[in-house]
Amino acid sequence: MNTSEEVGDLAKIFNSLMNLTRRFIFRVLCVGPIPNHISFIMDGNRRFAKKHNLKELDAGHRAGFVSVTYVLQYCKEIGVPYVTLYAFGVDNFKREPEEVKCVMDLMLEKVELTIEQAISGNLKGLRVIFAGDLNSLNERLRAAAQRLMEVTEDNRGLVVVVCVAYSTSHEILHAVRESCVRKCDDGNGPAVLEVNDIEECMYTSVVPDPDLVIRTGGRDRLSNFMTWQTSRSLLHTTGALWPELGLWHLVWAILKFQRMQDYLQKKQKLD
Ligand code: IPE
Ligand code: MG
Repeated sequence: MNTSEEVGDLAKIFNSLMNLTRRFIFRVLCVGPIPNHISFIMDGNRRFAKKHNLKELDAGHRAGFVSVTYVLQYCKEIGVPYVTLYAFGVDNFKREPEEVKCVMDLMLEKVELTIEQAISGNLKGLRVIFAGDLNSLNERLRAAAQRLMEVTEDNRGLVVVVCVAYSTSHEILHAVRESCVRKCDDGNGPAVLEVNDIEECMYTSVVPDPDLVIRTGGRDRLSNFMTWQTSRSLLHTTGALWPELGLWHLVWAILKFQRMQDYLQKKQKLD
């Protein structure tokens, strides 16, 4: 056996040990309540690139996509049914056109890859839903996003909502307009809109409200992300940049959610 084969074997053993340890940690974690829906505000990609002196424009965002893969895998293993990812905000379109293009191209690359995985049966039950103003995406990305939603719509595993071209203000505006069309244009004259009418027309109405919001990048704000849906959610922020988010950050956030259970449940009953 030569040195590279030995290194390969050691890496395999190390990986198996890590997998076992992770599964053990998740078993212990699952003794307590697990959030039904976790939302992630993925912040800090560019700072990650800067910190590591990565020069390519897409380097930080590329690292961010790797993090998405791990985080989804962990959520699936823990048994979280719904995950929302804040991938691109309406305001992010105000960034330099080169950067916007770069993120859109990267997203297209990942969406097309995921379509291939879904078709070849390698997605293990994952269902992907895009939420936001999809009309503001370029045609190719919009079509790919649509296709990915179609090819995964019968999957019954983890539901992942990808928020692109999304902001709550835009979502509410869209929902109010849509509910007016549905309710006021039905030929029965003027109608009174109820909260339910608006909620039904929200982009994210396909999933329950988040129980836990995790924001990376060290900023303690919601940045126009699901502000309507998170009045009873626990907000956990971490200084870790999105590409740095690891197993322990996630475990720590869920432990905090478990510690706060009594308080969160009391709030749900009172509101
Ligand atoms: C989040 O990371 C990713 C997107 C909004 C596309 P940023 O790009 O905001 O990175 P920082 O916060 O500037 O480091
Ligand atoms: Mg940022």
